[in-house]
Amino acid sequence: MTTDEFRIHAHELVEWMTGYMENVEKYPVKSAVEPGEIFSRIPDKPPSNSEPFNSLLRDINEIIMPGITHWQNPNFFAYFPANTSPPSILAEMLIATLGTQCMIWETSPAAAELEEKMMIWLRDMIGLPPGFEGVIQDSASTATLAAILTARESITNFSINEEGAEHAGTLKVYCSEQTHSSVEKAVKISGIGRKNLVKIPVKADFSMDPEKLKEAIIHDKSRSYIPCCVVATLGTTGTTAIDPLRAIGEICRENGIWLHVDAAMAGTALILPEFQWMLDGREHIDSFVFNPHKWMFTNFDCTAYFVKDAGALIKTFELLPEYLKTRTRGSVNDYRDWGVPLGRRFRALKLWSVIRSYGTEGLRDKIREHIRIAARLSEHILKETDFEILAPVIISVVCFRYKPAGYNEDQINTLNEKLNHHLNDSGRLYLTHTIINGKYTLRMVTAQTNVTFEHVAKAWDMIKETARNLSP
Ligand SMILES: Cc1ncc(COP(=O)(O)O)c(C=O)c1O
Repeated sequence: MTTDEFRIHAHELVEWMTGYMENVEKYPVKSAVEPGEIFSRIPDKPPSNSEPFNSLLRDINEIIMPGITHWQNPNFFAYFPANTSPPSILAEMLIATLGTQCMIWETSPAAAELEEKMMIWLRDMIGLPPGFEGVIQDSASTATLAAILTARESITNFSINEEGAEHAGTLKVYCSEQTHSSVEKAVKISGIGRKNLVKIPVKADFSMDPEKLKEAIIHDKSRSYIPCCVVATLGTTGTTAIDPLRAIGEICRENGIWLHVDAAMAGTALILPEFQWMLDGREHIDSFVFNPHKWMFTNFDCTAYFVKDAGALIKTFELLPEYLKTRTRGSVNDYRDWGVPLGRRFRALKLWSVIRSYGTEGLRDKIREHIRIAARLSEHILKETDFEILAPVIISVVCFRYKPAGYNEDQINTLNEKLNHHLNDSGRLYLTHTIINGKYTLRMVTAQTNVTFEHVAKAWDMIKETARNLSP
C-alpha cells in the first residue's frame, strides 16, 4: 500500500469509525452468532496476491461486524466496562502510526518520560502517597502477577529467583472469597501453588473480614507456613465490595506481609474526593493496581500499576543481556524491568490524550454521573415489591433479582437465569450475572462511556416487563 493509497483509505476509515460511533446504539448489543459461524466464513488459506483494502473493509462489514459484541453501546451493562472515548481512539491511531516499541528509555525517550509523568498524574489524581511510582501494564492480571512475584521475592530475600523454591518453605497468600480469579491465577503460576491461597470469609456486605484474616495468619504461622501477601480488593467483581484497607493493612504491617490492592474497576472512583474513604489506610499499601481501560475512558489495554518500592519490583524482574546495555541505564526508567514483557506499547499517549481532553473535572463529572445513575436505578428497583437488591450499591453496579411471590429459591434462580438470557437475546441490552449466597443475581453496570439515565430507565422497563411475562 502506498502512502497515497493509505491517505485515501485512512479518510474512508475515519468516516467508518465516526459512523460507527454515531450508530452504535442501533447494533444488537450482544452478538447473536453461533460458535464457528465466523470461522467458517474466513478462507482456509491466505491470499497469494495483494487484495485491495476495500475488500477487507467489505468483509469487516459483512463477516466481522455480526460477530462483534458492542461494548461501546450505552446499553452494555455487562461485566465491568471496557470503555473507549474519541480522544483515546485518536491517540491509539497515533500510537499505531508511530509504531514505537517502548521497552527501554532509549527505544523512545518520550514514551518512557511521558509514562513516568502520567503515572505521577494518575497517582495524584487517585490519592496514593507521593512516594509511589507507577508503570503501565497490559492488564490487572499481569500487574497482580507482578505483585505476587515481588512479594514472593521480598519475603524470601530474592532467593527463589536465583535458587528455585526447593528450600523456601511454604508461602501463603490471602484474599477474600469474593476476590477476582486473577489472584488465584497469579498464585497458581507463581510457583506458590493454588492450595496455598487462603480465601478469607466475608462479612454481610461482602468485604473481607479482618478478624478472620488475622486468625488465618496466626494459624498458618503456628504451622511454620510463611504468610507472604494479602490481596485486598476495592470493588470486587461480583458486588463491588470494598475491603477495609486500614484494618487489613495493620495486620500486614504487624506480620511483615506484602499488601497488594486490586482496585481494577473502583480505582477510577478514587478521583472523586467523596470516595477517598476507600483508601483509608493507604500508608500500608505495597502495591496497587487499577484499570483506566475499564472505567476511565482509555481503550483497552491500559493498566496502572503502582508500587511503594520500585527497587523491589525491578530486582524481581531485571536481567541485563548484552544487547540491552545502554549508557543511560540507572539514570532513566527502563520499563522492561518493571514487569513481564520486554516489548511495550506507547500506552501513555492514550492517557495523556484522555486526561487532557476531559480534564480532571470532566472525568469527575462523568464518573459522578455514572454513580448517580446506579443510585437512581436502585431507587426504582426498591419501589417494586417483586424485585430485590442483593448487595450494597457503592459505585456504579446494582445487583438485583426478580423475586415474585409464591416460588421457592430454586424456581427463582431458574426464573432469573431465564430472564437474563431473554434480555440478552433481545439484542437491546446486555447484562451479566453473579451468584450471591446461592442466589442467581443480575448485575447492572451503569458505567459505559455514553450511558445516560434514559438508557437505564428504558432497560429497567424492559427488565420488569420481560420478567413479569416469564414462567419458571
Ligand atoms: C476486581 C478485578 N480485578 C482484576 C480483573 C482483571 O482485569 P484484567 O482484565 O485487566 O486482567 C478484573 C476484571 O474484571 C476485576 O474485576
